[in-house]
Amino acid sequence: MDQTPQVREATAAERPEVAEVTRLSYAQYAVGSTPEFWARYEDSTRKKLLEDDDARRFVVLTDGRIVASVLWCPPNEQNPYPEMRLLAVLPEHRNRKLGDLLIKACETLTRTEGFEAITLHTTALMPTARSMYERRGYRPFPDLDFEPAPGFVVWGYKKRLA
Ligand SMILES: CC(C)(COP(=O)(O)OP(=O)(O)OC[C@H]1O[C@@H](n2cnc3c(N)ncnc32)[C@H](O)[C@@H]1OP(=O)(O)O)[C@@H](O)C(=O)NCCC(=O)NCCS
Repeated sequence: MDQTPQVREATAAERPEVAEVTRLSYAQYAVGSTPEFWARYEDSTRKKLLEDDDARRFVVLTDGRIVASVLWCPPNEQNPYPEMRLLAVLPEHRNRKLGDLLIKACETLTRTEGFEAITLHTTALMPTARSMYERRGYRPFPDLDFEPAPGFVVWGYKKRLA
């Protein structure tokens, strides 16, 4: 059994598998939302992962199976920097530095594409991810903050890549 994780870009045919890994990885956050809200969130996430042709997707495979993924989105009208989105590691594969491998893949691509910084969003619901980003040099970037519901702020973060 080959447990050495392999990181690479996903093929177009793998998009449904990436969407499923993401769904399973984020399921822990359904607690605390209404079923309607969560169904809408899952639908929009799945659509983004299946249909966004401008984004790039990285995956980690162990034993030939996708167990983790991330989406790299180019700058847009709201954000002048690339953004790392939907970082997802299946629960049974966590704490083995797979998340770290995917963050590094996004940072490398950002440098290769000639950008000086990479951004992301996170929330108070995701303390593990937030402290992980802060340990890796990500800092609050309030320009990207937004409030999808009163009192619930989604925080922007940025890391300058020298
Ligand atoms: C966040 C996530 C991607 C991390 O993946 P991972 O493969 O376990 O990450 P790594 O093994 O590379 O690193 C995990 C880090 O979190 C730490 N950690 C693990 N469990 C923790 C916990 N309960 N509380 C605080 N820190 C924790 C680890 O010690 C490690 O620390 P490090 O910064 O010193 O390396 C994964 O937990 C996940 O998919 N979560 C659900 C989706 C999510 O929240 N995505 C991010 C959205 S912004």
